[in-house]
Amino acid sequence: MAEKSSIHGDLRLVNLTKTYGDFTAVNDLSLTIPEGSFFALLGPSGCGKTTTLRMVAGLEEPTNGQIFLGDTDITFTKPYQRPINTVFQNYALFPHLSIFENIAFGLRRRGIKDVKEQVEKALELVELSHLASRKPTQLSGGQQQRIALARAIVNRPALLLLDEPLGALDLKLRRQMQIELKWIQKEVGLTFVHVTHDQEEAMTMADTIAVMNEGEIEQLGSPADLYDNPKTAFVANFLGQSNLIKGTISGNDGDNHIVDLFGQKISLAKNRSHAVDNSIYAGIRPEKFRISRLETPTSGNILTGGKIEDVSYIGVSTQYQVLMPWGQEVMIFEQNDDAVAPFSVGENVNISWESGFTFALRGDEDAEAGMEVEPEETIDDDE
Ligand SMILES: Nc1ncnc2c1ncn2[C@@H]1O[C@H](COP(=O)(O)OP(=O)(O)OP(=O)(O)O)[C@@H](O)[C@H]1O
Ligand SMILES: [Mg+2]
Repeated sequence: MAEKSSIHGDLRLVNLTKTYGDFTAVNDLSLTIPEGSFFALLGPSGCGKTTTLRMVAGLEEPTNGQIFLGDTDITFTKPYQRPINTVFQNYALFPHLSIFENIAFGLRRRGIKDVKEQVEKALELVELSHLASRKPTQLSGGQQQRIALARAIVNRPALLLLDEPLGALDLKLRRQMQIELKWIQKEVGLTFVHVTHDQEEAMTMADTIAVMNEGEIEQLGSPADLYDNPKTAFVANFLGQSNLIKGTISGNDGDNHIVDLFGQKISLAKNRSHAVDNSIYAGIRPEKFRISRLETPTSGNILTGGKIEDVSYIGVSTQYQVLMPWGQEVMIFEQNDDAVAPFSVGENVNISWESGFTFALRGDEDAEAGMEVEPEETIDDDE
């Protein structure tokens, strides 16, 4: 393939801001994306993901801030002079050109004569060598998607930007492409910045995820970091489901806080608390809970006085809604592994969990932040 660009290195956004009139689409964004990593920008519709990518690609001029690739300031570099390629959701292939010529296009434009070897390698990478002589309309959506990718990768950009590139594909093909994209990224070692509003997609593919909300980054980390130890209610709710229970820190026990949840005491690791004072929300993911019948002994944190309100059997797991004495409905996922007999609506139960799984958020947060946004399909449907 072509020589790697002379401008390369980590991508650094420094205080990047974009305003339209008095509306701020991207607000003082600073982050570093290490060279060679698979980075996802995840957030609900309208949070500023595409605007951020367009500034990196040079298609939009920042109102403020800078963009660096390695040591080179590319904030005002012309788009075609940046070693950056973008694959958009509507990856328009050239309809009159063969697949081979679609991929060769960028190389030919740069005056490279002998394109055969590079194009063939790119086709091999996306496993579509046998389709080289077809026209784009003779390919399925997923195949066209892979050609769009091959067309971008053949140029060996320092940075590949992907803006919801799988949005047009049906769910099954999308899941398959997610795995393939990740594999291709590891294979070619380029930096990928992938924009999506699908949390599962981000978690499947990325080394690092930045969760964006209203033009700002709420939290940045590995998928496991963000899921296990969210810092805000928005992240806790946008990435999977969380039970947030209002409480007060009432004491300390070594590395743990003792927390009062509506009169019942639980413990919480101090280093998993993002609260600023004694008022907190204790967060527990639905699959971390265990339900027990009243006579069953339990260990770890325990809350008593629950009542099964709803049971949904969904194959791999059963989802329970348990009404707690303070009126809150708690969501619990139990594996269907026969460890416990299923519970029925109306049963009185206790719920327990390993205290190490608890995280804590500020007590003045909006516990429903990030919930109203549909992270999946529905947004695609009306596009
Ligand atoms: N040219 C423009 N003029 C005015 N407002 C704009 C312009 N471009 C984008 N916006 C606004 O900036 C905000 C961020 O838009 P952006 O396209 O970056 O969102 P997004 O996160 O990519 O959303 P989606 O997931 O729906 O693609 C939106 O509220 C949008 O309406
Ligand atoms: Mg967008």
